[in-house]
Amino acid sequence: MEDEAAASWSSGFASASVDAMQAYDDIFVSGLFIPWANVLLDELGVAPGESVLDVACGPGTVTRLAAARVGRRGRVTGADISASMLAIAKGKPAVEGAAIEYVETSAAPLAVESGAYDVVVCQHGLQFFPDRHAALLEMHRALRPGGRLGIAVWTAIEAQPSFLGLMRAIADVVGPDTAARYAAGPWGFTSLTDLEALVVGAGFTDVRAREQSLDVVFEGDGARYADTLAASGVASELAQLSAEDCQRLVDAADRHLRPLVRDGNLHSASATNIVVARRGATIP
Ligand SMILES: C[S@@+](CC[C@H](N)C(=O)[O-])C[C@H]1O[C@@H](n2cnc3c(N)ncnc32)[C@H](O)[C@@H]1O
Repeated sequence: MEDEAAASWSSGFASASVDAMQAYDDIFVSGLFIPWANVLLDELGVAPGESVLDVACGPGTVTRLAAARVGRRGRVTGADISASMLAIAKGKPAVEGAAIEYVETSAAPLAVESGAYDVVVCQHGLQFFPDRHAALLEMHRALRPGGRLGIAVWTAIEAQPSFLGLMRAIADVVGPDTAARYAAGPWGFTSLTDLEALVVGAGFTDVRAREQSLDVVFEGDGARYADTLAASGVASELAQLSAEDCQRLVDAADRHLRPLVRDGNLHSASATNIVVARRGATIP
């Protein structure tokens, strides 16, 4: 069944400009997504010589770390629906390690070979897919028998104070409906039990599910952090605001996030559901 909020965020990513996605890369990647990517790759025990597929790779966050881990004998593919995200990924300096191939594709259907990967990862992508079951079936198809899957999806927005601050700023200035649409994307699929059931339902075995917390740091204050709204699923609504209301939104973000600022940077807890699993050795 299609998830409407996910579909709306997903199509927002697909049509976003490079400028909008650059704010994501500049503010989120080093502070938030790289630390989480290392957690996921450690959990999966990604090793030299392996082939890795990163679904919803964005600006190549997990992709590039995986390429360094698998080394020159390995192979890495980054797949994403957003041409702008892929343009940012491709513009980064080469990684010391495996060559990376980037593919512009939806998660379902997923334009990669069947049975070709030792590992498939999807970090903070699954919640945006309009049909998550179909996407997991595609990840299953891409894995070789016995291959490993690693999925990471945020827990509730209440466990992520930096994002909660932005949601509250949107509610204050734009209204509760837009705030709800903001939260319904990244934090719209937060049940660990549902995630585990979805992975089992797609035919995976040896499924292990857990929640983890990590303290993260974003460079700059709340006003700078508000720039990331340009890379959100409500960006087109926020683009309709008057210059005055835009400033009110930045001020509200600054006010809500001020308690998190120390030494000029934003310090926040973050929490993620992580599921790892295998494609069974026999093909169902
Ligand atoms: C929050 S970003 C995560 C990116 C990356 N995994 C990371 O850790 O930085 C979500 C990504 O999902 C991608 N995405 C959203 N809907 C998609 C879909 N239906 N198929 C493939 N990718 C999708 C977006 O373009 C975006 O790059």
